[in-house]
Amino acid sequence: MSKYLIAGNWKMNTDVNSAVELASGIMEQLKDKEGVEVLICPPFTNIYHVFDVVNNSTILVGAQNCYYEENGAFTGEISVGMIKSLGCDFIIIGHSERRAIFNETDELINKKAHSILNAGLKPIICIGETLDDRKAGKTNKILEAQLTKSLKSITDTQSKEIIIAYEPVWAIGTGVSAENKQIEEAHKFIRDFLVQKFPENGEYILIQYGGSVKPDNAKEILSIKNVNGALIGGASLRVDLFIPIINTAQSLV
Ligand code: PGA
Repeated sequence: MSKYLIAGNWKMNTDVNSAVELASGIMEQLKDKEGVEVLICPPFTNIYHVFDVVNNSTILVGAQNCYYEENGAFTGEISVGMIKSLGCDFIIIGHSERRAIFNETDELINKKAHSILNAGLKPIICIGETLDDRKAGKTNKILEAQLTKSLKSITDTQSKEIIIAYEPVWAIGTGVSAENKQIEEAHKFIRDFLVQKFPENGEYILIQYGGSVKPDNAKEILSIKNVNGALIGGASLRVDLFIPIINTAQSLV
């Protein structure tokens, strides 16, 4: 298994042309990267075109969301099977923007996780506390509740396929990442939870950090114990920022 999973969450950015341009730029500058897996998650509409660019490379392509039903009268939704048929292996679920703006609950995220696992794909399950939660000293309580509910009925065997992304909501898109000590404590808390819930595989589940990861803080963040990668928003939209983060991960392997 790779030591680091570096993922770009493009959010609702890029159209077909600029997505192709961004993916091409990443392709051109990506060096040999043993021990690091690189994943990019464009908007649905651009996934097919991005695959055209990164085909025959080691770059992985994923989606940013899905619906849990297989098909039917769910206007505007995209099923896991549809995403799988494009060739994606990963789907981000439970991003704080989806929780906050689209009212997604842990129960819904759990249904999506099962649907993804049943299809043989890997869910990147995002969790994280708000600033109010943190100030009130509730960080661990929130993380525990999100983990408990979103991982409901997932078996130890299935847990091999999941990735957890710890993203403190207050660090997303703000330019201010969490402090190293806060990251270390949260990742340790998550690791302990996973090991307890999944005695066989919990130790090996990748835990990414997300929230204002940039080239100048990537080294210290990726060096923290139990940080197995990064989920990157803003900096993943620029080749000159995304590539140095991947190279930093490579230098730490
Ligand atoms: P950011 O976003 O890197 O722009 O803070 C991270 C995320 O939302 O996954």
